[in-house]
Amino acid sequence: MKTKVINSPDLLKAASRKREATRFDQIHLDKMNELMPLVKGLKYYIKTYGCQANVRDEETMRGMMENIGYFPAENVENADLIIINTCAVRENAEDKVYGEIGNLKYLRKKKKNMVLALCGCMVEEPEILDHVLNTFKEVNLFFGTHEIANLYNLLYQCLTTGERIVAVESKAGEVIEELPVRRNNNYKAFVNIIYGCDKFCTYCIVPYTRGKERSRKFDEVIKECQQLVDAGYQEITLLGQNVNAYGKDLDEGHDFADLMEAVAKLGIPRLRFTTSHPWDFSSKMIDVIAKYPNIMKFIHLPVQSGNDEILRKMGRRYTRQKYLDLVKEMREKIPGLSLSTDIIVGFPNETEEEFLDTVSLVDIVKYEAAFTFIYSPRKGTPAARMVDNVPYEVKSRRFQELVKHLEVNIEKSSKEMVGNIYDILVDGESKNNKEMMSGYTETNKMVHFKGDNSLIGKIVKVRIIESHTYSLIGELVNE
Ligand code: 5AD
Ligand code: SF4
Repeated sequence: MKTKVINSPDLLKAASRKREATRFDQIHLDKMNELMPLVKGLKYYIKTYGCQANVRDEETMRGMMENIGYFPAENVENADLIIINTCAVRENAEDKVYGEIGNLKYLRKKKKNMVLALCGCMVEEPEILDHVLNTFKEVNLFFGTHEIANLYNLLYQCLTTGERIVAVESKAGEVIEELPVRRNNNYKAFVNIIYGCDKFCTYCIVPYTRGKERSRKFDEVIKECQQLVDAGYQEITLLGQNVNAYGKDLDEGHDFADLMEAVAKLGIPRLRFTTSHPWDFSSKMIDVIAKYPNIMKFIHLPVQSGNDEILRKMGRRYTRQKYLDLVKEMREKIPGLSLSTDIIVGFPNETEEEFLDTVSLVDIVKYEAAFTFIYSPRKGTPAARMVDNVPYEVKSRRFQELVKHLEVNIEKSSKEMVGNIYDILVDGESKNNKEMMSGYTETNKMVHFKGDNSLIGKIVKVRIIESHTYSLIGELVNE
């Protein structure tokens, strides 16, 4: 099969912040009319890895596919179009994708006109793209994170020429409004407010794969949130790699605090946001969170390390003390605040003392949830060029030790909830027990309780009767 490379990624270009992001009112529709008769009644299947940005991209692609006549496939075997939406943030995310392609490639042999596509952050890395192009000949469409709005055209080319199509352009990126959408959930929604990242933490590939920080216009975000409120949604999560950098690239005069306040005023029962960078967190934002009861008292505030030297090498733009001061201000102004974080263990040359600073910070902050990672070198990032003298066994031992410290407080905070009544937004049947329903408290604790399907999507009161480290058992309270 011939490979047609429309464009391919380039990390230098991807890191450039000189170019301007472009804005469009709608996706690129050039080939839509020609494509429709070719795909009418066909089935699509999307498998997504990684962060909420990818989940939200999946919803856009679902909307695009359903608008031209595709139906969702009941399972992957039935699909005529399979899209694997990938993550590149750590090596193990990539390994999962290689396994998935390996499992799915036989399907293309069965169906002549099938499209097996790879998109998302992995294809934005030149070496990985080369590797998958050479290794997985069955994959016949590759498109980058900036190419989603052009998917109709790419799909048309793929289906009509029989060529493998590669379209991965490294660029500042676009902001496109009126994106089609088929949401995964009809009571909880993600709303993008800012795309990309300009922080360039030295370990992180995201600023290369997702482009420059670019905010959506204030009115566009409000319009989308108003539609969700009108449709009866119970929860909105404002999304961005750095949500609280919102507005800095616009000249509209609105910052993240203004936007959050305006969305809270629309009356959505639960408002969340993720992810915040400590460097961009202002007192004004803290005041807004404290003021509105429908803004959840839960902040995900990645710290990455508790040691100043490591934070400096990571390029995080704050010191341990600055982070602790921010936490102090948050706790003073927001009663009942729950904090969660991301931590990387084993950054190149991290010493035992430096690691212990992270452990002590964890003990001070008392997080109620945390995502912990062992450092994974990402080609093209500055940290990947550092010589690393820490053996993997040491990193692994530190990782276990850190998790133990985190669990002490996570367990304690769960125990303290026993006997109290909380509002739970009900998600569905519990994974392990069909008689139980599951949902989340305002501070994001998972609760299982006896109930039925009629409660899905509703906020109910539940008394906690038992606590485990990562979940709680409760009973419905009749009001
Ligand atoms: N290695 C390990 N963890 C990483 N993260 C980002 N890049 C890396 C990497 N190279 C983690 C950070 C970030 C989270 C989304 O993933 O903790 O906050
Ligand atoms: Fe990556 Fe840092 Fe940007 Fe987060 S803030 S996406 S860790 S570069």
